[in-house]
Amino acid sequence: MALPLEQAAPPTPGDPELEQLEIELLLEAVYRRYGFDFREYAQASLKRRLWRRASAEGASSISELQAKLLHDPPSMERLLLDLSINVTSMFRDPTFYVAFRAKVVPLLHTYPFTRIWCAGCSTGEEVYSLAIVLQEEGLYDRTRIYATDINESVLATAKAGIFPLDKMQQYTQNYIRGGGKHDFSQYYLAAYEAAQFSKTLTENVVFAQHNLAMDRAFNQFNVIVCRNVMIYFDKPLQDRVHALFYESLERFGVLALGHKETLTFTPLADRYEELDPAERIYRKTA
Ligand SMILES: C[S@@+](CC[C@H](N)C(=O)[O-])C[C@H]1O[C@@H](n2cnc3c(N)ncnc32)[C@H](O)[C@@H]1O
Repeated sequence: MALPLEQAAPPTPGDPELEQLEIELLLEAVYRRYGFDFREYAQASLKRRLWRRASAEGASSISELQAKLLHDPPSMERLLLDLSINVTSMFRDPTFYVAFRAKVVPLLHTYPFTRIWCAGCSTGEEVYSLAIVLQEEGLYDRTRIYATDINESVLATAKAGIFPLDKMQQYTQNYIRGGGKHDFSQYYLAAYEAAQFSKTLTENVVFAQHNLAMDRAFNQFNVIVCRNVMIYFDKPLQDRVHALFYESLERFGVLALGHKETLTFTPLADRYEELDPAERIYRKTA
């Protein structure tokens, strides 16, 4: 059983420099053995998650955890789940969807066809929310959404479109606060404890694994939505991902980030204008 995150800490207050060295070596080992690159993830949360995994695996040091990860691939899969924080919800931050309808949808109406990249989509709630908005705004039939994540197992959940029924009350409220125009329950069928979302919502969605830290651009997009993902990256990696998004956006394309993320102070800030500063929605201008 994994410890709650706040309780995950080194067993003894050791030598911080040694701990840092062990963490760097572990991340290098994980990268070279498995190809997952967490070397530029924000340190504080990374450290807590490594210690939690160490304790769950019965390792008393980060080096011991490293040995376990190298020789026991299932433990690497468990670490991967710990490190790719998958918290999400439908119509998360409803005000974002109000702004999306008001400021992005009118732009999309001027295009004959729209490509949207939802990067770091986790279990898909964000993708279904966007598909619902696009359907209600008469845009879905001429849109393709590319929904990607580093983690294959969350993508499998996203594709299935089955979410816990007990979340629907909260999601209905989010949907209404996000400017929803219909009865939210029309989008899913309730069966036992689950809500199965309509397959029409994924007809125009391509789900694929993509690692923002390592993989290249793969298309030209009119909109990139990457919310609550870069918050886990350190500054150099954030800057690299911003370069990837800049390269992947059409001119006048839209970039939407999470509430705690920003383009300000990044090297590409002056290539965008703010469409909605509070909602972190930007438009590429140059
Ligand atoms: C907190 S969730 C955000 C989900 C959704 N965008 C939202 O705002 O609700 C962060 C997601 O980013 C993914 N992620 C983390 N590192 C990634 C990387 N290097 N490349 C692609 N996805 C990554 C995780 O697997 C996780 O599903």
